[in-house]
Amino acid sequence: MARVRFLFVLLVLFVGSVQAGPPKAAIASAHPLATEAGFEVLERGGNAFDAAVAVSAALAVVEPYSSGIGGGGFWLLHRASDDRDVMIDGREVAPLAAHRDMYLDDKGEVVRTRSMDGPLAAGIPGEPAALAHIAGQYGRLPMEMSMGPAIRHAGQGFEVTPHYRRMARFRRDVLREFPAAATFLTDDEVPPLGYRIRQPELARTLTSIAKSEAESFYRGELAAALVADVREAGGIWTLEDLENYRVIERAPIRGRYRGLDVISAAPPSSGGVALVTMLNILSGYDLSGLQPARRTHLIVEAMRRAYRDRAEYLGDPDFVEMPLARLTDPDYAAGLRAAIHPEKATPSAMLPGFTHASTGRDTTHFSILDTDGNYVAATLSINYPFGSGFLSKRTGVLLNDEMDDFSAKPGVPNAYGLVGAEANAIASGKRPLSSMSPTFVRNADRIAVLGTPGGSRIITMVLLGILEFAEGKDPEAWISRPRFHHQYLPDRVFHEPEAFSTTTLQALEEMGHTLEASERTWGNMQGLVWDRRGKRVEAASDPRGEGAAVAR
Ligand code: GLY
Repeated sequence: MARVRFLFVLLVLFVGSVQAGPPKAAIASAHPLATEAGFEVLERGGNAFDAAVAVSAALAVVEPYSSGIGGGGFWLLHRASDDRDVMIDGREVAPLAAHRDMYLDDKGEVVRTRSMDGPLAAGIPGEPAALAHIAGQYGRLPMEMSMGPAIRHAGQGFEVTPHYRRMARFRRDVLREFPAAATFLTDDEVPPLGYRIRQPELARTLTSIAKSEAESFYRGELAAALVADVREAGGIWTLEDLENYRVIERAPIRGRYRGLDVISAAPPSSGGVALVTMLNILSGYDLSGLQPARRTHLIVEAMRRAYRDRAEYLGDPDFVEMPLARLTDPDYAAGLRAAIHPEKATPSAMLPGFTHASTGRDTTHFSILDTDGNYVAATLSINYPFGSGFLSKRTGVLLNDEMDDFSAKPGVPNAYGLVGAEANAIASGKRPLSSMSPTFVRNADRIAVLGTPGGSRIITMVLLGILEFAEGKDPEAWISRPRFHHQYLPDRVFHEPEAFSTTTLQALEEMGHTLEASERTWGNMQGLVWDRRGKRVEAASDPRGEGAAVAR
């Protein structure tokens, strides 16, 4: 009996030690000031959700090219107290006056600048409403406290970095078109390193959002000022559009891979569905035992097949019926796997359907863990660098160009080369399809929280991260690993300059793959791991970016 009692006590101690909260909090984000904003709020008694509000708001100020209060995103939350996973959908929606042909000219051709530049390109922003929802439903602190650091940075300014300069150079011509966007330039030129970008109007708007819990952004004077600025510049927003905006809580997409639960973004993101399809296909192989060329071949074939389904089926779940159960079913993946030749590439032309290609310079991601065991993965966007380039002069809000994520005309590629089907056609009040893939991967011992910007390449970057995490690698290793990408069409394996050895490149070509080396690296992954058994927390920020990962 004493022996049984002893064993029971041991078991309780063991379970207790495994289930205790993390020894440290951790934040990885794309900007050191945003990571610090999150810690400031944690140190003032906030939880991971308050920190998520602080980091999102700070990124909106210090990374104006990536995300913002005039944009949207997906916040994947895990609440430890009731073991709840939920996705906060703060994606932009098409204005009421939007219609499927709004970016076509008289000849029915897509006029790309209309869906990318200026206020006509902007969906109704979801970020202010999402931050208020997260603070109100999941946080502990008032928004005035959690948005404090962002308000400070908007008023006092932040320093221009090399990455800022690259992004501003890329969108300089569009920023010059809209007078208020001069905020982001100096004398119409890209500002020098160290120059301080101050945004006093945005500071006032953020203060108003914080005080009113985002009510003022969607109703009243601030909303009226925003709509007036948009309409004066040729946009189609109305007050009703802002009043109608609703944040949606969605059940994340779930899958399994090698004993790990994978929890990721649900539609209107294509990320979770494509990830689960690819992981289900790859579950049938022992990837760790394979030569690099064979391993890459099988991963590429999984990517090819998941991306083929993406464009055909996925869109806003409130507008389209999607075969989600089928696309995430291991038996469906087994059928796809059966058609993969172990040593020969399948030409994409042999597969039915259609889709695209892209590179990503926009969007941002952060990952947070608090010492209660709550965690957040959030990927936020204003789409193209500096969004639409249109800054509302009365409010200081830079507007997104997320409308370009719709298929302006089925079959015609968007700014990232993505082609879509009817499921992602423009309709008023609809959310455009996204690739943003904030993700959790976990078993009883280890939890990874990850994500990245990078347009349609987001999903394959997260896939490569998951595969490495599943093989026991630490976040530093899986975040810095060289990347490759295939998205069905164009039928090419894109890869970072150093991704493959000459031998692997040759072997892949002999299998029938067409390879294309990028001049530059891509992505800006921010991830963390909580090793419950080892009682360790590690965070990592992509060495390709300028971010900061801190565990303390
Ligand atoms: N705008 C990038 C995405 O949503 O995937």
